[in-house]
Amino acid sequence: MSKTILITGASSGFGRDTAETLRRAGHTVYASMRGAQGKNREAAGALRKLGVKTVELDVSDDTSVEAGVRTVLAEAGQIDVLVNNAGIASAGVTEAFTAGTGDGDLRHECHRAASRHPRRAPLHATEA
Ligand SMILES: NC(=O)c1ccc[n+]([C@@H]2O[C@H](COP(=O)([O-])OP(=O)(O)OC[C@H]3O[C@@H](n4cnc5c(N)ncnc54)[C@H](OP(=O)(O)O)[C@@H]3O)[C@@H](O)[C@H]2O)c1
Repeated sequence: MSKTILITGASSGFGRDTAETLRRAGHTVYASMRGAQGKNREAAGALRKLGVKTVELDVSDDTSVEAGVRTVLAEAGQIDVLVNNAGIASAGVTEAFTAGTGDGDLRHECHRAASRHPRRAPLHATEA
């Protein structure tokens, strides 16, 4: 059964691959990213050619997250699955990381925003 899926950080890497794969499998996919009209314009265009919908969403900015989630809900009516992928891959000794190094908080902003719309919020959320 086709699902409506929102993926964060879908301009490159695992996020983009996941968007393409899920679209090919027949799902309605919203590839969210920052700079969809700017630095990630090419990636956004290529995804749209495959039938993936793109939406502006910076997970580090509450206003952007809320606006992105609202856009998807207005268009699709609901979000079945949220893939919290956006982030920064870090290597090293985690005990030596500073507060600004981690991206754990970023991943939860989108789920929080979607959850503010309880009747249309994701049934499933997963993290990269
Ligand atoms: N690669 C690994 O071995 C590995 C292992 C475990 C977990 N992970 C996790 O998997 C996720 C994806 O990894 P990847 O290897 O595919 O990394 P990647 O190629 O660097 O992709 C990261 C994506 O996140 C986006 N992003 C970063 N900050 C963002 C923000 N504030 N708002 C929206 N998008 C943002 C980037 O977009 P921009 O173009 O805007 O920068 C980029 O599209 C990360 O969360 C990473 O921590 C990776």
